[in-house]
Amino acid sequence: MSNIKDIENNILANIFKTNSSEGLQKIKISELGKKGRITLLMKSLSKATNDEKKVLGKSYNELRINVLKAFELKEQEIKDVNIINRIKNEKLDVTLSIRPGENNDEGKIHPISRTIDSIIDIFANDNFTVETGPHIENDFNNFTALNIPDDHPARQDHDTFYIKDRNNIERKLLRTHTSPVQIRTMVNQNPPIRIIAPGRTFRCDDDATHSPMFHQIEGLVIDKNINMGHLKGLIKSFCEEFFEVSNLPVRFRPSYFPFTEPSAEIDIGYNKKGNTIKIGEGSDWLEVMGCGMVHPKVLINCGLDPKEWQGFAFGLGVERFAMLKHGISDLRNFYEGDIRWLDHYGFNLIGGPSNTWLNFKED
Ligand code: DAH
Repeated sequence: MSNIKDIENNILANIFKTNSSEGLQKIKISELGKKGRITLLMKSLSKATNDEKKVLGKSYNELRINVLKAFELKEQEIKDVNIINRIKNEKLDVTLSIRPGENNDEGKIHPISRTIDSIIDIFANDNFTVETGPHIENDFNNFTALNIPDDHPARQDHDTFYIKDRNNIERKLLRTHTSPVQIRTMVNQNPPIRIIAPGRTFRCDDDATHSPMFHQIEGLVIDKNINMGHLKGLIKSFCEEFFEVSNLPVRFRPSYFPFTEPSAEIDIGYNKKGNTIKIGEGSDWLEVMGCGMVHPKVLINCGLDPKEWQGFAFGLGVERFAMLKHGISDLRNFYEGDIRWLDHYGFNLIGGPSNTWLNFKED
């Protein structure tokens, strides 16, 4: 009997030591195969007496069952280890799922990015370069240098996202417009200057027509002998190209901005029938942007002599341009991240303007 227990212990130890299915298979053959140890023991029972059969049969059977159980457990363990090792060692190449020629669901360019890219392309043809600035600005660049008075509504806490300064030295804010990029450019570059500055802007506004985050494009030209006529010519040809309407009615309406003098609001001719807007037709006017000649005080604030240098600036809202051009009626759709909406209103990567904006890293 003790002999049988020894055999069992010996077999179980061998099973325990094995780490491969091949090794396990070998033990199985040598113990349970045709000429295996346990098989021969079972066969030897035929020669035993009936009394012996009762005792030995029971212990051989127990031995067989215990050994089979041990095999089963070890097989499972080897399988588990194999899976863990495969997970550790195999790298999944996700690009393999995209095979040339196969119809895959691909991403789309967001209408805001596409609109910024179209506008960059138009101005790039007129020798403008692109400048960007940080989202977190200081009071000087966002307000003071732009001649925005202390009592201007944009300076109030409820209109602007202010950021608490730990040392209380300089209060920071999320820029309320892209105009601070004008200041940064004039301070850091020598004229002549010809830039546009696209990017995110922030205000404490949230309803159907306002979002706390939105996009603007700022334009700035500084040179000698620049006048309002240059501004009008540039903006008219830009609007005609963007809206793809030749002889687009464009109107300059006197207005006020602290950083320009004189200032104007630009309207384009349009017609509304039901819910459809037709740009360039009819007798109604739609306001699309603000502009003006850079205020002498702003030039001085940036270290430029207004007797030597003049210039003009303009600022437009990207969402408005995108809505008008692509027939999008609700501002909030832009930011909801609904894939079905983007699939409908988004643009394919190939074709259209150069995808410049995607490569800009704003901070
Ligand atoms: N910064 C103005 C705003 O956010 C837009 C603007 C108007 C920019 C006139 C300009 C400009 O450069 O000349 O409302």
